[in-house]
Amino acid sequence: MPLVTTKEMFKKSIEEKFAIGAFNINNMEFVQAILDAAAEESSPVILQTSSSALKYARIPYLKHMIEAGLEEHDVEVALHLDHGPDFETCKLCVDSGYTSVMFDGSKYDFEKNIELTKQVVDYAHSKGVVVEAELGKLAGIEDNVNVSEEDSMFTNPEEALEFVKRTNCDSLAIAIGTSHGAYKFKGEAKLRFDILEKVKELLPDTPIVLHGASTVIPEYVQICNEFGATLAGAKGVPDEMLHEASKRGVSKINVDTDLRLAMTAGIRKTFAENPEVFDPRKYLGLGRDYIKETVKHKIVDVFGSNEKA
Ligand code: G3H
Ligand code: 13P
Ligand code: ZN
Repeated sequence: MPLVTTKEMFKKSIEEKFAIGAFNINNMEFVQAILDAAAEESSPVILQTSSSALKYARIPYLKHMIEAGLEEHDVEVALHLDHGPDFETCKLCVDSGYTSVMFDGSKYDFEKNIELTKQVVDYAHSKGVVVEAELGKLAGIEDNVNVSEEDSMFTNPEEALEFVKRTNCDSLAIAIGTSHGAYKFKGEAKLRFDILEKVKELLPDTPIVLHGASTVIPEYVQICNEFGATLAGAKGVPDEMLHEASKRGVSKINVDTDLRLAMTAGIRKTFAENPEVFDPRKYLGLGRDYIKETVKHKIVDVFGSNEKA
């Protein structure tokens, strides 16, 4: 099956109240683990590459690895640019065969974000490619913001409505308390489901995206720490909250950190328990198994996207 856009998968996700996993990739082991998991669970899936992934792995390798996976598996896959920083990067991906791109204008003011997003939307749509945009800011705990600053970073639902109308973007990433990386909360995890609810009231047919949505899986953090890592205080969004988000209208859930932790746990464990090993297939192989387990768990137990392809 050729690559697809996210149009049909998001339509189904809104109608049937489940979310699609969007997993970041940088190398072959990640691609294989995610596609094997999605195929075994008959789930649509989004593979996404950041602009640093483009620099690291290079577009032809990323594209052809995925095409190799599609030769093996009959599974619905969209290839997406994650956090496109500018028009040129988005255009490069559109022209290279990506089926979806994100333009991340969240660092600009409202009007500039609209203007730049619209430029990407116009180009991408003329080539049949869909666009994710972002409104609101994702703060990490290290950002140390006070409550009123925090409030101003969350997505404003009325602005979201105006933003989608004026840009004609296909999906919208919103800020409701998640953040990128392994340190998302100091105390209890808290998401602003009230904001999500308001956004969905105003934009019932727009697919909503949650960035920074790794669980920071305690078992993998523990394996990493047991074998030499220093990840004290790592904390993510609990599975139950992500499940709730998927039931309340989030269509795309972004995961990078959990896969990095899974791979790192596999590598660290292999080295620590087998100091004689220097065959990359041994340590990358265990990392790949851990990623596959992680993706299956999310698809089946958290996002509910299995048996939907
Ligand atoms: O949201 C960002 C992703 O986790 C990608 O991170 O730029 O290090 O590839 P990266
Ligand atoms: P995590 O760091 O929580 O995995 O988020 C990844 C992400 O949002 C990629 O865009
Ligand atoms: Zn992100």
